[in-house]
Amino acid sequence: MIKFRISSRQVYAVVGYGLLLVFLLWPDRFASRYEYIDGEEIYDQLVRKTTKNVSLMRNGIRCDYSDVIEENVYLYRRPFTEEIINNNVKLGGEWYPEDCLPSFSTAIIIPYRQREQQLGQFLMYMHNYLRRQRIHYRVFIIEQYDPKPFNRAKLFNIGALIAMKLDYPCLVLHDVDLMPQNLGNLYACSQRPRHMCSSLDVFRYNLPYRGLFGGATAIQSNQFMKINGMSNMFSGWGGEDDDFFARLKNKKIDICRFSPQYSRYTMLKHRKEKPNKDRVAFLRNGHLRYHSDGLNSLVYKEVGYRLDNLFTHVLVET
Ligand code: UDP
Ligand code: BGC
Ligand code: MN
Repeated sequence: MIKFRISSRQVYAVVGYGLLLVFLLWPDRFASRYEYIDGEEIYDQLVRKTTKNVSLMRNGIRCDYSDVIEENVYLYRRPFTEEIINNNVKLGGEWYPEDCLPSFSTAIIIPYRQREQQLGQFLMYMHNYLRRQRIHYRVFIIEQYDPKPFNRAKLFNIGALIAMKLDYPCLVLHDVDLMPQNLGNLYACSQRPRHMCSSLDVFRYNLPYRGLFGGATAIQSNQFMKINGMSNMFSGWGGEDDDFFARLKNKKIDICRFSPQYSRYTMLKHRKEKPNKDRVAFLRNGHLRYHSDGLNSLVYKEVGYRLDNLFTHVLVET
């Protein structure tokens, strides 16, 4: 007769591999739970506000958004090869529906440098995506021209100032490599600033920590002004979004998220950027600079401003 002896090491190994298997096959299992706005509440949470030129358009009926939210259609395919349907995007990457009066005007602001392929995919997908949402929007690409470490937050500040001058009441601050997968994630501002991409594939659709406020966020222009925008001092990767979150907290502005079904994103593949070694220190003493570092201290040089077919292209030295 053969006798099996199981050592405690083997037991640990079996349990360990079992957990690993659950982890791999069941991505949501270890999701950190977070408070969210459910599908039925989304519309009521949105701030209905447009630029003046759009609100002055006099074609009667208001656009209806209930189908977009309720159906929350899954749209993303990789690669996304759909042509930009009936190419009626205005020069500068602006669009609004012609057959109804939109309730939302959103400036989509993308910090950018040397990601040509991603930019191509982003534009092709997002113009299709956003027009299906029937909102009024305009895409701004804020490109860092100089070779200094990339300064994402400063580029957002620049884009925000330009968009606010053009009367946009709502800013979406968005990485070029993020694609929203479901259509119900309306690119409009909620009353509270919103972390839009809380369910991201590279994090296995989990939220790594509750204070994560990066990737894609929507914030009303007046709220962005109230916190003096973002810091201009984070150059290189990391921390600037955490400082953004801290600024909101400092002004007692709570953030929100939509439920995971509405917040799914996929990130296009790229190599990891070099982290900023000072980011933790900057973050720790960031509160000392909220009033002096931001929109009110923004210095940059505009090297180019061009209305491209699919976006407004602002080239800057940071
Ligand atoms: N970015 C860019 N060029 C760079 C670095 C960053 O255009 O060299 C922009 C781009 O929009 C990108 C965003 O900044 O999506 C955030 O950087 P990254 O994707 O590297 O951050 P992570 O994916 O690590 O959060
Ligand atoms: C960084 C953030 C980043 C997050 C997720 C944090 O450690 O400080 O800037 O968005 O990780 O990658
Ligand atoms: Mn990325």
